[in-house]
Parts: sequence; C-alpha cells; structure tokens
Amino acid sequence: MRLVLATDAQRYERDLVNYPAWGPPLTVEGYVTREYRLRSHPWAQAELKTWLLCADNQEVLASCETYRTDSFLRAADGSLEAGDSYAIASVFTEERLRGKGHATRLMDLLASELERASPRVHSALLLSDVGAPLYRRSGYRETPAWDWRFEPEPGEPSEGVDRLLPETEMGSALARMRRPEVPFFYWPTPAQLDWHLERERIYSELLPRPRPEANGATAGESTALWYMVGKSSTLMVLMFDARTPEAAAALLRSARRVAHRAGLSRVVLWEEPAAAPLLAGVPGAVREAREGSLPMLRSLRPGLALAEATPIPRALWV
Ligand SMILES: CC(C)(COP(=O)(O)OP(=O)(O)OC[C@H]1O[C@@H](n2cnc3c(N)ncnc32)[C@H](O)[C@@H]1OP(=O)(O)O)[C@@H](O)C(=O)NCCC(=O)NCCS
Repeated sequence: MRLVLATDAQRYERDLVNYPAWGPPLTVEGYVTREYRLRSHPWAQAELKTWLLCADNQEVLASCETYRTDSFLRAADGSLEAGDSYAIASVFTEERLRGKGHATRLMDLLASELERASPRVHSALLLSDVGAPLYRRSGYRETPAWDWRFEPEPGEPSEGVDRLLPETEMGSALARMRRPEVPFFYWPTPAQLDWHLERERIYSELLPRPRPEANGATAGESTALWYMVGKSSTLMVLMFDARTPEAAAALLRSARRVAHRAGLSRVVLWEEPAAAPLLAGVPGAVREAREGSLPMLRSLRPGLALAEATPIPRALWV
C-alpha cells in the first residue's frame, strides 16, 4: 500500500464515488460542478492536495484532501513564528471497502508525509463528522466543540453597528482583527475566507437561494465576518472579534437581521475560549454541543504540544 497524490482525472473519479456522502441535496452534476469550482478557487489552487491510498494493484482504497493553512507560535515576548499546518478534509472509503483499516492507514501514512512536508511544519487538524475514536488511533486529540446559536430576527441589519461589510472588504476587516493571545493558533488568509464565500456563491446558484446582503459588520474596533451555508440554511460566523459585551450583542443582532432577510433558519458562531464570556450575556444566545465538525489536532513537530483549548474559528473548517 502506498500514498500518492491524485491527478485531476482521479479527483473527478473520487467526486463520483463520494457523492452519496457529501453531494445531496445537489444533483451529481451539481456536486461535480461544486467540486470543480472549489478546486479552481485561488486558495485551493495554492494549498489543496488530494491524497489516495492505493493497493499494490493500483486500486484506490481510501482518499482525503489537505489544505495548508497558516499557524503561529507565540513566544514569551509576544513575537510570532509563522509555520505550516494542514487541515484534512473529505476522508473517504467506499462502502464496500470499509472496516478494513484503510482510513486509519491513510491517516497514519499522511501524518508521516506531512511531518516532512515543510521545514516549518506545526500541526495537522481535522473536523470530524464521525466522532473522535477513528482519528484518536492516528494520534489526533479533540478540542471542545460548542456552538452559540441565535434565531433570525426582523429589523434593519445596519442598525446599532458602524458598517455592514460587503465581500470585497473581508480581507481588510480580517487585518484589523486581534490574533488570539495563546501560545499556538491558526489564522486564515483573505483567500481562505473567500473560499468559504465561493461555497456561498455556488450554493446560491445551484439550490438556488439569495445570498445574504452582507458578509460581516463592524462596531467600533469589533468585527464579525460570516457567510451562508446554503445547505443547512445557516448564517455561519467565520471570524469574531468583539471587544465588549455590547459590541458582541450589536454584531450578532446585525447577523440575525441579515439572516432573517435572507430567509435563513439560524445564526451559528463557533465558540472560542476568549469570546465565550462575552456571549453568555447576548440576548437570545443558546449554547449547545456541536453536532459534527469536532476539531481534532495532531502535532507534526517534535516538542510541540498542542493545548486542548486551542481556538478553532469556523474559518479553519474545510
Ligand atoms: C469514516 C470512514 C472514512 C472510515 O473508513 P474505513 O476505511 O472503514 O475506516 P477504518 O477501517 O480505518 O476504521 C473504521 C472505524 O471507523 C468507524 N466509523 C466509520 N464510520 C463511522 C461513523 N459514521 N461514526 C462513528 N464511527 C465510524 C467504525 O466504527 C470503525 O471503528 P471500529 O474499527 O472500532 O469498528 C468511512 O466510513 C467513510 O468514508 N464514511 C463516509 C464519509 C465520512 O463520513 N468520512 C469521515 C468524515 S470526518
């Protein structure tokens, strides 16, 4: 058995076999279009690799994707050392081949490969939809996964915030946001944020449903960035930096109003340790254990220990 990089033709073949796992409610044609468009996005072009676990006779036994993502070590004096981490997505074994250890083998070989992928390698992360046990076998450890959920509400979204942000301002808004004050963290690039917006654009066209009128808001120095997950009718917060409880409430009220106008069912914000105290007082906030997307981390560098409370913003999801 060996690990190889997929060609474009092999990627297309994997799209067809993994359609039942991730395709619906899109048609097969819609799903293939989605995958093609996402792979053509500049962020994916720069950072995506598709991996295949192949038998000696070349049969593909399992597959997954990795997206390189920036991560940072914070020294005691506050200075940051940039490194590479790898977000793993779309782990897949065809039904007829399941239960034989192929996904585990794939994850183990991939970790050895990634350890050597870059001189500044930090970690691998994944968002498990099948719980923790499968990936614990390969050295991954879960972090807490809580969501804050809010109902959409009628009203003018720009009320109470300084500005609503169009998609063209996501990058400049990101640049103003505070990096977490922790020893190790991940931080997305503007292109990475836009990859989420590309998902919004694709689903908006294929489902079809209208796009929300804004992709974020600012209130003083506080900022929230969000996008529509069309499939689950959710306005999902990608990045959140509220400096006060009042600003947190104002930004989330704006998000709820944008969601209402777009006909969405909920607003969801992934909890990060620093923001949790600010959210408890936001009117209508409901904290609940996340279903799916359980963040799991694995160090790829000797001596680098990853804290259980490492913040994972939704922008890191792949
Ligand atoms: C999850 C998946 C990749 C596992 O592939 P595999 O080659 O059968 O994996 P392995 O043989 O190495 O390990 C199988 C283990 O995964 C567990 N597992 C598989 N699907 C699971 C699920 N939906 N929930 C919880 N555990 C699951 C099995 O219970 C099994 O555990 P066991 O060995 O203790 O019985 C495969 O079932 C799959 O492709 N599923 C559909 C796509 C998917 O959900 N991918 C995961 C995204 S995070």
